[in-house]
Amino acid sequence: MDCLVINGGTPLKGEVKISGAKNAALPLMAATLLTSDECVLRNLPNLSDVQFMARILKSLGASVEMNRGTIRVRARKIDGFGDYDLIRKMRGSICILGPLMGRLNEAKVSMPGGCVIGARPIDLHLKGMRDLGAKVRVEAGYVHAKAKRLIGGESFLGGRCGPTVLGTANMLMAASLAKGKTLIHSAACEPEIEDLAKFLNAMGAKILGAGSPTITIQGVRRLRGAEHRVIPDRIEAATYALAGAVTNGDVTLRSCQPSHLSAVLDKMREAGVRIESGRNTLRIRPAKQLRSVDITTMPHAGFPTDVQAQMMVLMLKSPGISIITERIFESRFMHVNELARMGADISIEGPSAIVKGGQPLSGADVMASDLRASAALVLAGMAAKGVTRVNRVYHIDRGYENIDGKLRALGANISREPGQ
Ligand code: EPZ
Repeated sequence: MDCLVINGGTPLKGEVKISGAKNAALPLMAATLLTSDECVLRNLPNLSDVQFMARILKSLGASVEMNRGTIRVRARKIDGFGDYDLIRKMRGSICILGPLMGRLNEAKVSMPGGCVIGARPIDLHLKGMRDLGAKVRVEAGYVHAKAKRLIGGESFLGGRCGPTVLGTANMLMAASLAKGKTLIHSAACEPEIEDLAKFLNAMGAKILGAGSPTITIQGVRRLRGAEHRVIPDRIEAATYALAGAVTNGDVTLRSCQPSHLSAVLDKMREAGVRIESGRNTLRIRPAKQLRSVDITTMPHAGFPTDVQAQMMVLMLKSPGISIITERIFESRFMHVNELARMGADISIEGPSAIVKGGQPLSGADVMASDLRASAALVLAGMAAKGVTRVNRVYHIDRGYENIDGKLRALGANISREPGQ
């Protein structure tokens, strides 16, 4: 298993191009199952999760051609039984449930695994399918869903931690081919949901209100092929913005969408980071004096849980005490113990991490765990004095395209080495 070796202390300087959004790409790829026509998606990021989803589409019978950032999918004929082992390995694959139900009125998909950040239940996904008239049961590790024909209805998709992003995606895709009108309350408002709705409407769906908590879908008989360009990855953008900030660098992000990460930029400005925002660029310059700020993760447009770990590294650089509260996932502080090996002074009190910032960080051997925690360890390694080895870098390759290449181009002293 490869590792990243980072010699910290160099301020990052220069420009970085932001790739297409992983969390938009996965449901968009699943949506191509809704039609027998050819669909084309552009600006796809080159990530292991995207390649994995392509394998899942092929396992369902679709023809898939990927060439650099463009994918052509033709799901002429598909079967509703996903490959157990494939689907179980990636949580994001649950978003094939909606399109299989919309297209075939039947699906048998494996329960997605939990992961280090939490149990990752899918009760709201199944509730949504039932609200469209499907009979759903879980048996022997599989979700079995079946309907004579899906019938539009009303559905409330709010859970104890707010709306479900992929649950909303599944509902949009299934309801697009249901008979009649569907009303979703407490829908997820993430930009990735808006992007999916835009693609579905280009395919002939009739969706209104995506990006707001209330979405209406007027079902249609069939959907046609369409082309679509995936939105920029707001989490990758936030990660590189914070990489610039934690190294006191001067970094310009290109091909990003600043309005998709306004909560992150607001908190970075509150912490003293100087940020200039353009139409699809962001320039990050060093703070005159960093300040500690408190963060609570929320559903969009609140502070995103996927940037919580990376923001913690900025708070480690900021003198004073910051309280970072994680409201979306039950165990998303895996990075704290690893940061402590680098000299970080953080204590956990229930859903909150109390960060005592302003102490110097020193390089250490650390272990990646979940995708975003691993990115935080890379940021900490660049901010620390000395050498940091981030092991199990496959976690990072799931969600960051060519992270070491992009950081080297910004002047970071980072290399990828074969692990033990
Ligand atoms: C999406 O996951 C993202 N993944 C996650 O990004 C992101 O952290 C998450 O949304 C929240 O923003 C993709 O889009 C592929 P949820 P998703 O359903 O849809 C609870 C990353 O690092 N819940 O919105 O699976 C759940 O336990 C990944 O890129 C239920 O209770 O997340 C959590 O507490 C990590 N029942 C909360 O809702 C359900 O049926 C939000 O989960 C579904 C979810």
